[in-house]
Amino acid sequence: MKVLVVGTGGREHALAWRLAFSPGVEVLITRGNPGTDAVARPVDVASGDVAAVVRTAVSHRVDLVVVGPEAPLAAGLVDRLAEAGVRAFGPTAAGARIEASKAFAHEVMEAAGVPCARAEVFEDAGAALRFVERGRGPVVVKADGLAAGKGVVVAKDRDEARAAIESLMVRRNLGEAGRRVVIEERLDGEEASYMVLCDGETVRPLATSQDHKRVRDGDQGPNTGGMGAYSPAAVLDPATEGLVLERILHPTLRELSRRGIAYRGVLYAGLMLTRDGPRVLEFNARFGDPETQPVLFRWRGDFLEALSATAEGRLREVVPDFDPRPAVCVVLAAENYPGSPRTGDVIEGLEEASRVPHAIVFHAGTARGPGGSVVTAGGRVLGVTASGADLREARDRAYHVVSRLRWPGMHFRTDIAARGLRAV
Ligand code: AMP
Ligand code: GLY
Repeated sequence: MKVLVVGTGGREHALAWRLAFSPGVEVLITRGNPGTDAVARPVDVASGDVAAVVRTAVSHRVDLVVVGPEAPLAAGLVDRLAEAGVRAFGPTAAGARIEASKAFAHEVMEAAGVPCARAEVFEDAGAALRFVERGRGPVVVKADGLAAGKGVVVAKDRDEARAAIESLMVRRNLGEAGRRVVIEERLDGEEASYMVLCDGETVRPLATSQDHKRVRDGDQGPNTGGMGAYSPAAVLDPATEGLVLERILHPTLRELSRRGIAYRGVLYAGLMLTRDGPRVLEFNARFGDPETQPVLFRWRGDFLEALSATAEGRLREVVPDFDPRPAVCVVLAAENYPGSPRTGDVIEGLEEASRVPHAIVFHAGTARGPGGSVVTAGGRVLGVTASGADLREARDRAYHVVSRLRWPGMHFRTDIAARGLRAV
């Protein structure tokens, strides 16, 4: 069976790597990177070019397209593939709106009675500013549209909230994404990530995980796409997980279905575990990055079969199974990330790092450099992922591998999974 993975980051390396274990599979990937070369054949097409990806899938007679990032989903890649007779893992554009429009996500949650932050949607900057003037509690200002992780400002006071509104709505610093803005009450608690497979009918939970969004230790500094993750997340104990399924995932999927959207793919709920129970911070219509790296590290069984069953509406035949041993992923980032990163630095130590057992270095922003070298080519460069008998061993092993790797300006958090260790 021929599978095409769409995307080029760390999540896609993990997807391609795990897919390659399935019997009789040939994995292709859109461009890929020096890390994916070992598991997937690169095809020269940009992951964001919907028409070109469809042409490639047809001409290579691909049996299943697995879509990593949100942008092609929101742009209707799965719809266009269906029209061309190609099966795909991922929701249609209508389903992907749950991520592509935060206003739509709130509308769905409200209709379904799903616990989330109170929110108001604004299309007019003046009205948004007046709302902030009148408000009492702390707020979070969010661009309605896709903003590659840059659309959310957790305002520490009114001035910051005002500045965020002006940046998004008046100066349009994130373009169309900021045409509408959602202002939410700020929630307190611990965050966790929860992903389920869904075929429009059956829902199958994946292993729990926790991301680390801020760039520096102790959750300091600006938000990033994610500086590391571990799985499982002890805060999502079985009782809480049951609540999340019953009060959040099931009602959301039912509401989508009521609106004529048979959601197929991964639905990712970014959760705040508040004193009053779990609440939704965001939905994503795709696998999380970097959560996917430790979650798929723990995957047991035929991953291709699970994704095919999801795409074909026969997910009831599959029950995902995970290695009980925890896994930890530490992201190594380039200088200046999450600002515009410096690229082209030669990465040293990859060979040595690859020799550590129970660990793998997933490539995100890397490229081939001169003389067979591998160079940095993005903000998040590598996702060092390792497992262990317990969370401590997994974390120690991941940081041991990290210590083998270096390039000028490389930075990472030293406290990935620390919260999980405190919990156990
Ligand atoms: P989002 O992309 O919506 O998940 O927002 C990115 C990050 O902003 C989240 O991971 C949280 O750390 C933070 N955040 C978003 N919404 C809220 C909220 N209502 N209250 C507190 N923090 C939030
Ligand atoms: N790690 C958060 C996300 O994938 O959106």
